[in-house]
Amino acid sequence: MNEINKILSQISRETVSLLPTPFHRLSSLSEIFGRNIYIKRDDLTGFSFGGNKTRKFDFLIADALEKGCDTIIGIGANQSNFCRILSGIGAKYGLSVHLILNGLKPKKPTGNLLIDHMLGAKIHHIDTIDSEERLKKAIEVKNQLEYEGKKVYFLPPGGSTPIGALGYIAGWGELLDDFDKNNLTVDKIIHASSSAGTQAGLVAGQAISGWSGEIIGMSVDVPRDQLESDVLKLARSAGDILNINIPDSLVHVDESYIGEGYGKRTAGCEEAVEIFAKKEGVFLDYVYTGKAANGLIDYCRSGKIKPGETVVFLHTGGNIELFE
Ligand SMILES: Cc1ncc(COP(=O)(O)O)c(C=O)c1O
Repeated sequence: MNEINKILSQISRETVSLLPTPFHRLSSLSEIFGRNIYIKRDDLTGFSFGGNKTRKFDFLIADALEKGCDTIIGIGANQSNFCRILSGIGAKYGLSVHLILNGLKPKKPTGNLLIDHMLGAKIHHIDTIDSEERLKKAIEVKNQLEYEGKKVYFLPPGGSTPIGALGYIAGWGELLDDFDKNNLTVDKIIHASSSAGTQAGLVAGQAISGWSGEIIGMSVDVPRDQLESDVLKLARSAGDILNINIPDSLVHVDESYIGEGYGKRTAGCEEAVEIFAKKEGVFLDYVYTGKAANGLIDYCRSGKIKPGETVVFLHTGGNIELFE
């Protein structure tokens, strides 16, 4: 058992994710870009079509069950990957799920939303992308459900609570095992970052293990200063659960690949999605992983990742969005 697993063994956990996820070299991309490029396949965490959110739910659902909750509220966009996993969790564990989704109700649900429907989630559409309005509606639904006697587990966007972030402390432990098994010295890890939970967990894991490389969260929507502060705050709250300190020097966010904002495609993102699909048979999405992979490719071309360096792309899932 590695150090991370030992530390996490004190925390309640369900086995939602199919772990460990595959870790392998991207031989064509490594050749094209002259860098040693590996991928961690968290698109293949299995449950409810997989992605990074299942790791968070390994811990979140254990917490919800321990607290005796019978209902979970989640917040997201119509095509939220997090809400898709949450819908699956509710169905499997017998908790009712209420989703507060920004975006008009489409005539015909597609992609993630289609799956939310299939899994029986109760969906509340709101016609705004304003996060305050969305939160207001979510609290209204929570109050109503509590009035009806339900015990509600309330989740912020992305399930990015300190408990949720523990999922990526565990993910970090798995990455260290992958590096060991492949005898690799890794220079950089690149992944898509938004609600801070994934990166906070990774950074907290790095703080425990003392790895000297750099984790770079490619923001898909949030300005760098804001996201770095969110990540640090969340990593420290997760660290408090385990009694570990998180230095701020570990948090690196790059906002260069956001383009016009959340869900807005960029040419670089489209190119990245195409290259990964055609050269490696790996499918990304246009909201999250495509933008992060745009960053990876640009770092190789510009020399921010030097020739001969080893970089790991953490594939956080989301490719159901391709079927929107
Ligand atoms: C596919 C995908 N990748 C990355 C992220 C970002 O993860 P986090 O919100 O933990 O920063 C998300 C979040 O919704 C996602 O769905």
